[in-house]
Amino acid sequence: MMSTKLNPDIWSENSRIVNDALVIAGCDVRALAREFGTPLFVLDEADLVTRIRSWRHNLAENFQSHSGNVYYAAKAFISVEIAKILASENVGLDVCTGGELAVARAANFPAERIEMHGNNKSESEIRAAIDYRVRTIVLDSLHEIERVARIAEEFGVVQRVLIRLTPGVEAHTHEAIATAHEDVKFGFSIASGAALEAARKVRAHPSLKFAGVHAHIGSQIFDTGPFELSTERLIEFLGKLKNELDLLADELVLGGGYGIAYVDGDDPIAPATMMKALSMVVDKECKRQGFSSPKISIEPGRAIIGPSMTTIYEVGTTKEVRLENGDNRRYISVDGGMSDNIRPGLYGARYMAILANRNPETRNVKSRVVGKHCETGDIVISEIELPSDIAPGDLLAVPATGAYGRSMASNYNHVPRPPVISVVNGTARTILRRETESDLLALDVVEKARKIEGVGR
Ligand code: LLP
Repeated sequence: MMSTKLNPDIWSENSRIVNDALVIAGCDVRALAREFGTPLFVLDEADLVTRIRSWRHNLAENFQSHSGNVYYAAKAFISVEIAKILASENVGLDVCTGGELAVARAANFPAERIEMHGNNKSESEIRAAIDYRVRTIVLDSLHEIERVARIAEEFGVVQRVLIRLTPGVEAHTHEAIATAHEDVKFGFSIASGAALEAARKVRAHPSLKFAGVHAHIGSQIFDTGPFELSTERLIEFLGKLKNELDLLADELVLGGGYGIAYVDGDDPIAPATMMKALSMVVDKECKRQGFSSPKISIEPGRAIIGPSMTTIYEVGTTKEVRLENGDNRRYISVDGGMSDNIRPGLYGARYMAILANRNPETRNVKSRVVGKHCETGDIVISEIELPSDIAPGDLLAVPATGAYGRSMASNYNHVPRPPVISVVNGTARTILRRETESDLLALDVVEKARKIEGVGR
């Protein structure tokens, strides 16, 4: 038996080529495709658990008695089964909508390890969160301070809250996923004084308990610099809170955003390196401010779930296209695309792929992997070298699709969303089933029109 390990930065830890085909956690992807159909997301569950433990361990190791929680960012991907795994690994959960909270509730996720985010939580979302007794609500606007205070009062509880800050840091990532420069919808600006004002307002409400501050500077970031700068500014702000408002923070949440490798050459920072760098800044800045460090928490999403999942597509058609410069481009159409991975279209995100069901018999040629949707921009991989003999029926595997793949999936063109199959030691189980055409049709209704109050017709 020939077994080749794949680039471990990109592929989940139990992914290998065995006898010419891709095997994930002992499951041959050809068998998975036969059993569950394509496209499908394959979750290497042991890999996921390793990553959860690695972040938890490195947080604890570096911050010692000041280590708070790893709040897994549910937006990257959540399902009831994932929430159960997180709960049993003793990490926390960051939810930012009522829907994400509903998943946590369905999994019986411990409320004392949930924090609720969102820049525009609705009344009913806030009610649901307080009703479930989530430990922490992260406040994002002045309106929200009043809203949460009022609802907490109605419930007769004192709600623990953090204030989300904008530390004014430019992180080097795609514009749409940078979140902490000044001109952004999230949080309270430190520089403008809005943050201090927010803290003053929180302090004035007996139904709110000020617990600390939060910032998230963006996503898919590869260097420690912006995180260090943001941490510095947050602690400086905590100094201000102490001096001017006599407020002490119990927790400082540094956000998520740690980058992962999608293609060869991407160079993510290891959890140990990242946590070490941040703990040094925290130590130094707290010393400078003259207080002991609050509990430090983080919110990785992508860096936990991203590399754990691989998408398996089946090739449907191929086509040669002659380019203006005389070159050929080979188009390879797969049975999914922008409905299961919008990231290339939305952010110009890059991915790689391999032929997963057999050894190629020919050389590589310049190829483009495209989806099945009626859009020119429905591209999975804009440019990649793939074997020229790839043909209908072949399987392509695209690694590192766990974060913001299934979670941002849509039903564009009425394409049912793919399932998530968890594999461990040669066994497979569905944790999120494939959507069916009846699921798609379930929302269509035939209803008699009702009269609505108003003027004129
Ligand atoms: N905490 C907060 C408050 C966040 O807003 C986010 C992500 C995270 C944590 C987790 O960030 P991560 O560790 O996963 O990078 N759809 C985009 C990413 C948007 C991220 C939004 N917020 C993408 O596909 O790249």
